[in-house]
Amino acid sequence: MRKIEIKSTVELHDDYGAFSSQEVELFQAAKTAHLTAYAPYSNFHVGAAVLLDDGQIFKGNNQENAAYPSGLCAERVALFYAKSQFPDATVKAVAVTIDHGKVEEDDGDDIISPCGGCRQVIAEYEYAQQEDIKIFLLGRGEKVCIIPSMKQLMPLLFSGDILKKYQK
Ligand code: THU
Repeated sequence: MRKIEIKSTVELHDDYGAFSSQEVELFQAAKTAHLTAYAPYSNFHVGAAVLLDDGQIFKGNNQENAAYPSGLCAERVALFYAKSQFPDATVKAVAVTIDHGKVEEDDGDDIISPCGGCRQVIAEYEYAQQEDIKIFLLGRGEKVCIIPSMKQLMPLLFSGDILKKYQK
């Protein structure tokens, strides 16, 4: 028997000092996006924004449905829209935020991390483009947690290479 320890590294920032103006624009886009989420069932408003290699930024938010599984998370709304319009673009980064105004100030940093389904979708584009996608988790004020690649959050992930191997 062998044991392997798998570690993840993330970066925590207290303000936007270390970020480019394009990254700050991405953060603002995610924050704006959460304001128009359609979340009448959970009342949990999520905003996401996607940065493409040509500098375009696309916003998305969660879209819920009375038939619950028919709804979609903010991250996937933004990613699917961006990639449906620009299939050859490389996704550089995804930013995610929630409505921080809803709970008390002393409630911690209040970041949310993408759900399993959104992680799989981000991992898919990373695999397809063979380039890491940065994930920015936006906290209260200017707090940011950076995950440098979805591989950091999904060790042993399932990707297209295994399918290709077994298609022979
Ligand atoms: N949600 C997102 O949009 N992104 C996440 O990363 C986690 C969850 C949405 C889905 C649903 O509309 C609501 O939050 C509650 O789960």
